[in-house]
Amino acid sequence: MEVITQATAEQAVKLVSRLIEDRVKVKPGAVLGLATGRTMERVYAQLAMSSASFKECTTFNLDEYIGLPSDDAQSYRHYMWEHFFSKVDIDIQNTFVPDGQATDLQQAATDFENAIETAGGIDTQLLGIGVAGHIGFNEPLSSIMSRTRDKCLTPKTREQNAAMFGGDANKVPKRALTMGVGTILQARELILLATGSAKADIVARAVEGPITSMVSASSIQLHPNCKVIVDEEAAGCLQGREYYDFVFANEPEWERYRQN
Ligand code: F6R
Repeated sequence: MEVITQATAEQAVKLVSRLIEDRVKVKPGAVLGLATGRTMERVYAQLAMSSASFKECTTFNLDEYIGLPSDDAQSYRHYMWEHFFSKVDIDIQNTFVPDGQATDLQQAATDFENAIETAGGIDTQLLGIGVAGHIGFNEPLSSIMSRTRDKCLTPKTREQNAAMFGGDANKVPKRALTMGVGTILQARELILLATGSAKADIVARAVEGPITSMVSASSIQLHPNCKVIVDEEAAGCLQGREYYDFVFANEPEWERYRQN
């Protein structure tokens, strides 16, 4: 794992966007794993302004609320359309979001896993992190081996996402269909982005704490190719900053990204 701290959220977002752009330039038919949430809105805005073409890409989103129609303004399918798919040249047929409206959720989960496999697996998976330590909607006690399935959200997560539902946590759906931790760990590369002081404690627990299903994001420590990009605020509780900064300042792979 590498942990890269940028001075501002804007710079952290730009770095993540550049990494994705570069992946797509090297492999135009890349399979991208996508995340939603407020942090990612800026990444999609940045990507939409870039010169990258997503024409040949296939995308898989991490999660979707259960029970929200896909045209509901709060559904993640709608979010993706609004922030990204409508702004770039991607073929909408090649965009997959778990089907939270399916009558048979288990079948929908199996179909989603099969679609990832048919696409050849995910090359680069974008991740945010929730204050409850989730990646995707893998709430505490999610098995590290878990696959796509329905999951009950924690009150803390519903509180975190209340702003998108008029500030009322009770309006946030109670359940979601989410890629499992095991599904996420199968991607060939993980890029986790976190910004702001509210994420500082959970970022430190994910990166430096014990690997535990109580903090699903700590499972990224098991991944051989994982980058964590944070701003100064989100890096606030990290103990090993000196070494992480040294790696970014010295490793050749980061040279072209140092002047952001
Ligand atoms: C959403 C997702 C979540 C979010 C996380 C952070 O698809 O996978 O794990 O990335 O809840 O959300 P924000 O960025 O709104 O703090």
